[in-house]
Amino acid sequence: MASERIPQAFIDEVLARVDLVALIGTRVELKKTGRDFTGRCPFHEERTPSFTVSPAKQFYHCFGCGAHGSALGFLMAYDRQSFPDALQALAHEVGLELPDRAQTKPDPERIHALALAEEAAAFFSAALRQSTRAQAYLDQRGVSREIGDRFRLGYAPGGRALVQALGSDPERLAGLARIGLSANRGDRFRNRLMFPIRNARGEVIGFGGRALQSDDQPKYLNSPESLLFHKGSELYGLHEARTSAGRLERLIVVEGYIDVLALSQSGFSESVATLGTSLTAEQVHKLIGVTPEVVFCFDGDAAGRRASFRALEIALPFARAGLNFRFLGLPDGEDPDSFVRRAGSEAFRERLERSRSLSEALFFALEKRFDAKSIESRVALAREAQRLAGCVTDPLYRELLTQGITERFHLPARSITSPRAPRVPSGNPARAPRVARGRGGLVRQLLTHLIHQPSLIRLLPPAAELQTFPMPGLDHVGNIQAAWIERGGFSTGRLLEYFRGTATGAILEQLAVPATPLDEKASQEEVLALVEQIRTQNTTQIRLEELLTQSRERDLTVEEKKEFQSLELILKRSPKTPG
Ligand code: UTP
Ligand code: MN
Repeated sequence: MASERIPQAFIDEVLARVDLVALIGTRVELKKTGRDFTGRCPFHEERTPSFTVSPAKQFYHCFGCGAHGSALGFLMAYDRQSFPDALQALAHEVGLELPDRAQTKPDPERIHALALAEEAAAFFSAALRQSTRAQAYLDQRGVSREIGDRFRLGYAPGGRALVQALGSDPERLAGLARIGLSANRGDRFRNRLMFPIRNARGEVIGFGGRALQSDDQPKYLNSPESLLFHKGSELYGLHEARTSAGRLERLIVVEGYIDVLALSQSGFSESVATLGTSLTAEQVHKLIGVTPEVVFCFDGDAAGRRASFRALEIALPFARAGLNFRFLGLPDGEDPDSFVRRAGSEAFRERLERSRSLSEALFFALEKRFDAKSIESRVALAREAQRLAGCVTDPLYRELLTQGITERFHLPARSITSPRAPRVPSGNPARAPRVARGRGGLVRQLLTHLIHQPSLIRLLPPAAELQTFPMPGLDHVGNIQAAWIERGGFSTGRLLEYFRGTATGAILEQLAVPATPLDEKASQEEVLALVEQIRTQNTTQIRLEELLTQSRERDLTVEEKKEFQSLELILKRSPKTPG
């Protein structure tokens, strides 16, 4: 499942075979304009075409809404597929097979397990049709027939009903035990309402079961981890959300199975639930692979607020422009199910609109946890704020968040420094000068050129020299350079795919959208100029730091002081480049 396990060479091979214009052309009407193709953007409403497909770069890009990416990104966005699914679809189109499917024969154990899980789901759903008790429970909870069918709800009578229905030869019994359906002692799920959990392909991989009687414990029983089912990487309802009608603009993450049903029934078919555990990064990764807006809506109780804060921590490393994490609060004592039934879907929609952004949720959490009056608690607040801001990997987001926190809580501007940015030694004889004003504007400009014309990588300083430069962000440039050497060249699309899911990839993603189209010839000159500026700033910085270090051990000579001042001047005069 995880994209990490798919060899990069295979992804390269698929992308190399894809004709992006043909691929997009079957879904969007394209016209040739110069070297590129243009059409009306499928990702936003527009009259004049601003959607551009570049065959040379194997990259698409919309000047209207900023949508952009490779063939893989296009399939993920257009067909709302996860990365592995999009890759599989693309591989299929170009006549390749995913390596783990091609090389190893289909895993017979997995096929067997999937077949058993499917049979069990069918058995439970037939049993529901025959159980007046289970149907009465659904009625009492207000779950409609339609929703019951869409989610393939079922009923587990218990005893040995399932085992008997599925046949009790030893091999089948062992198979059932392995996927956690039943043991030799009898059925695992007894007198429970059954929620089949499906993967992205719609295959049943596990179950949740709710006790019908309040004195039956536990209230919910889930399938254990098995070769099919991994709680931490699945989301209940994701398959149903993706296959529901209409455009999927966002996903709403709730805590419970019943919450998903209730919201879906109230018109919010984009609802999914974690599976009785707290949210994981893997789940967030999955969510943002499907839609750029994710709303967390946890119960209005202490556990829900803890879950919400945990979600905030998990989401921070993913934060960047174009992704929208939101937090919807519910009144005390309510969960999404009770709220939407009592207050109605309009009230829920209103709360959706008023939901907090990631940064607002962070401010809110800090406000709640620390009283801003005593110095001691303000120190603790600043510490915690620093820890949270340090979770952010996107440099621009981190900087603006840090700035927002210091303003909001009236903290000294420098009290929250970003722990990832290298520290410049402080002390005599001057305040430490800062390289790369506007945090690495030069680097960002350079990266932008490299993304759009990767062949310009050959103009970079040698890797050995680049590595000695202290400027923040240059490690990303180094990574690209190394990848270029390793792969022997690549297009924009393949460059982005190579770094997908990495810190470098996150930055490249943002920079892949230029404000104006870049001119290739001008790019070359700008890259040469940028490289020169970067070299000057870094060698200046290195020398300055040497002098600073020495100044702590001894008095600098008059010459050295002069040199220091002129070096400082160089840094001050160096272009202030917008981030
Ligand atoms: P809740 O206890 O909030 O239940 O558990 P709920 O969704 O409101 O359900 P109803 O309305 O009482 O039927 C939320 C989720 O936590 C997991 C389940 O996934 C459940 O949907 N859970 C809860 C368990 O795994 N085991 C339990 O015993 C309880
Ligand atoms: Mn509930």
